[in-house]
Amino acid sequence: MLDLVIRHCALPDGRTDQDVGIHNGRIVAVQPALPAQAAHEVDAEGQLLSPPFVDAHFHMDSTLSHGQPRVNQSGTLLEGIALWGELKPQLTQQALVDRAMAYCDWAVARGLLAIRSHVDVCDPRLLAVEALLHVRERVKPYLDLQLVAFPQDGVLRSPGALDQLRRALDMGVDVVGGIPHFERTMADGAESVRLLCELAAERGLRVDMHCDETDDPLSRHIETLAFHTQRLGLQGRVAGSHLTSMHSMDNYYVSKLLPLMREAGVAAIANPLINITLQGRHDTYPKRRGMTRVPELLAAGIPVAFGHDCVMDPWYGLGSGDMLEVAHMGLHVAQMTSQAAMKQCFEAVTVNPAAILGLEGHGIEPGCRADLVLLQARDPVEALRLRATRLHVWRAGRLVASTPAAVARLALPGRPDTVAFRP
Ligand code: FE2
Repeated sequence: MLDLVIRHCALPDGRTDQDVGIHNGRIVAVQPALPAQAAHEVDAEGQLLSPPFVDAHFHMDSTLSHGQPRVNQSGTLLEGIALWGELKPQLTQQALVDRAMAYCDWAVARGLLAIRSHVDVCDPRLLAVEALLHVRERVKPYLDLQLVAFPQDGVLRSPGALDQLRRALDMGVDVVGGIPHFERTMADGAESVRLLCELAAERGLRVDMHCDETDDPLSRHIETLAFHTQRLGLQGRVAGSHLTSMHSMDNYYVSKLLPLMREAGVAAIANPLINITLQGRHDTYPKRRGMTRVPELLAAGIPVAFGHDCVMDPWYGLGSGDMLEVAHMGLHVAQMTSQAAMKQCFEAVTVNPAAILGLEGHGIEPGCRADLVLLQARDPVEALRLRATRLHVWRAGRLVASTPAAVARLALPGRPDTVAFRP
């Protein structure tokens, strides 16, 4: 007797009419017409059952602060940074916890069950670190929150930041962050990459740096990140976030860089909503898109994830925790419209970020954790097209969120029949 069987599922790999059996929080069988009884049965009616969405790049310490202390009127990065500076001294731990908990509710409702969030360590009080460590524990039963110690103002440039970053790691923050392009010089940027990678190697931690988030084609800290990853044996444990300078780099240089990244096992995390909004702002026309070279990275065998980065904060007043919206934007910006590329975009918000975070048991195979999302769509491409409703979300086999199916009913003049369809 199983705990749950979800029958007649389509799966992201193209299999159809599969039954998924779940017991003790794990998937125990995936096959057609599973001959097993279960305490609960759900008929998926041929719709897509997916592993949960994973956000590889987020800022939970600023989320849902939109409008505090005032709205970013220009919508620019510079006004966003000024606003964050105004907000920081007013932050309280309770406000940080409340906003982060509210966002985690949004996330679960959208089938987003794992988030890697950067947390700013340039505040000597480490208020946000304390708050998000508390939130990490509170949401653990239903959401995996991985925290990155992120020196927003530069680990070398900001006085005390290195000590604070070390303290944050001592307190239990999971991943070493950095922002080399924001240090005062290229040399300081390279030095920051070296010392942060060494710190991660000493402590056995992963690395995820905001790297080259600029339109400057000569911002090449990703090369240094790949070098130290290789030197220190950190292959498979390091990610470069944003990497927007790659968009503007010389093609010949990129042809050297991609194999170096591949050799070092460095992953790439693009943030399509934010990159398309904030990059290219100094351009007139033609105006650069600014997102990193996603199809070329994938073709070179480098794992790529799409991150949300911001939701309703000083930098970005939009977003809702919907990773299908993120992938939809990434698909358009990268012109990934082939059937195969659209599926890759779905993987960039599911299996790829799960691997980058090192999540255990993410997937739909026997032995995987029964973290699952039933979408109102037949396949990944339709899920992207419709930003499909998350009908049911399970965590370890337990139902944690449901949303009614989207149905539009029309009453049209001259059409006596009521028309109902999925909008
Ligand atoms: Fe970021």
